[in-house]
Amino acid sequence: MRKKIIIGNWKMNKTSKEVKEFFEEFNKKELKTRSNTLYGLAIPACNIPFAIDKRVNKKFIVAAQDISKHLSGAFTGEISILMLKDLGVSHVIIGHSERRIYHGETDQDVNTKAKIALEHGVIPIICVGETLEQYESKQSKKIVEKQIKDCVKDLDLSKIVIAYEPVWAIGTGKTATNEYAQVMCNHIRKLTSDDTLIQYGGSVTPETINDLLKQPDVDGALVGGASLKVDSFIKLIEK
Ligand code: PGA
Repeated sequence: MRKKIIIGNWKMNKTSKEVKEFFEEFNKKELKTRSNTLYGLAIPACNIPFAIDKRVNKKFIVAAQDISKHLSGAFTGEISILMLKDLGVSHVIIGHSERRIYHGETDQDVNTKAKIALEHGVIPIICVGETLEQYESKQSKKIVEKQIKDCVKDLDLSKIVIAYEPVWAIGTGKTATNEYAQVMCNHIRKLTSDDTLIQYGGSVTPETINDLLKQPDVDGALVGGASLKVDSFIKLIEK
C-alpha cells in the first residue's frame, strides 16, 4: 500500500524566532497522526537549521522549497543541494508554480533540479498544474501531461513525489472538487507509476483534507496557508 505524504509549504513566511515558537508549541502536543502517513514542512532555507534542531520526532520531514541547478560556484543568491543535504533536508519542492511564474522556471529546469536532488539522495516534490485559462479552455489534462513528461524524464518514478497543484486553486480559497483532484491525479498516475506518490495542492484545509485523502490516487497534500499555524497544521496530519 502506498504511503500518504502531507507537507506544509511555508513559502516566504516566519522569522527564526517564529520557527522556534512553532516547534516549541508543536512539540507540546500529543499527536494522533494518520497511520502510514509521512508529514513535515518546507521551510525557507535560512531557517531550516532551527527546524531541524527543534523537531523532536526525527521522522518529521524538513524540506527545502527550491534548489539551484548547480552544485557550487559563481551563482550569487543560489543554494545548492549539497548545502541543504548537509543541513539534514530529506525532501525539496521543485517547480512550484510561484517559481515558474515569478522566476521563469521551465519544465527542463525542473527536470535538471529533480535529477540533482535524486543523485544526492533527496526526494524531489515536483509540482505541476494548469492555469485558470488552461482549465477554463479544458486543456488541463494535455498541459499536465506535457509537464509530467518533461519534468520526470529519466527519473526513478518510485523515488519521486508529484504535487498536482492547479494554479487557480493556490492561495485563492477555490479548491478543486475531490472528483476533479482524483481525475487529474489518476491521469498523472497513468503517466508515472503505481509507486509514485501523488499529492494534491491548492487551498487544502483541515476541513477538506479528509475527503481528499479518500480519493484512490491522491496520496497526500501540499498545503500552504493552512500549515502556518500549529493547530491547523496538526488538524491536517491527525486522523
Ligand atoms: P495554498 O498553497 O494551500 O495556500 O493554496 C498551496 C501551495 O502553494 O503549495
